[in-house]
Amino acid sequence: MEGRKVGDSSTILSQVMQPQDANIAGNVHGGVIMKLIDNAAGVACVKHAKTNVVTASIDRLSFHHPVFVGDLMTLRASLNMVGKSSMEVGVRVETENVLTGITKHIASAYLTFVALDAHGKPTTVPPLVFSTNEEKRRNEEANDRRRIRVLERIKEEEHQKIQTATNS
Ligand SMILES: CC(C)(COP(=O)(O)OP(=O)(O)OC[C@H]1O[C@@H](n2cnc3c(N)ncnc32)[C@H](O)[C@@H]1OP(=O)(O)O)[C@@H](O)C(=O)NCCC(=O)NCCS
Repeated sequence: MEGRKVGDSSTILSQVMQPQDANIAGNVHGGVIMKLIDNAAGVACVKHAKTNVVTASIDRLSFHHPVFVGDLMTLRASLNMVGKSSMEVGVRVETENVLTGITKHIASAYLTFVALDAHGKPTTVPPLVFSTNEEKRRNEEANDRRRIRVLERIKEEEHQKIQTATNS
């Protein structure tokens, strides 16, 4: 399978935050931002895999600043790593107050998507081709995170087995 460059699937989503995006305090709801992060990452993965994808997991997500109605939010998503059927995407979220021009880094997140075939089963994705040293560095860091995720999943499965055995 022929590889695809990171830049071929990198995705930028921009939108102005609207009143319907606000929580009862008047700030933009965290869940709205999470959905946009998932959307931006999903688009990048579909562009790479050229097939349907699902979100398998989202790593820790911290919000550094509140977002307000009227802010222009920009999400930049690019693939850091691909496995056999899985892809790790990094998403950086920034806002701009369009009246003042002040920009803020709101959040960054790593998500793992899995490509699915027509039967809904995981399917192989093309290799990822790195063109810059930064892309290579991000790939090395993503490989480290993948190792940690695999260990955490094994631990969680063991805990669940113990719990099931205890409850039965
Ligand atoms: C994600 C999903 C397709 C994985 O299916 P599975 O049968 O467990 O697949 P496998 O064990 O063969 O793993 C397939 C790949 O997914 C990766 N994977 C599975 N679960 C994962 C998780 N929780 N986090 C990160 N990667 C995961 C595996 O590492 C593997 O990667 P690789 O092919 O690159 O080596 C399946 O759990 C699923 O459909 N989940 C629901 C997804 C969904 O509906 N998301 C929307 C939110 S509701």
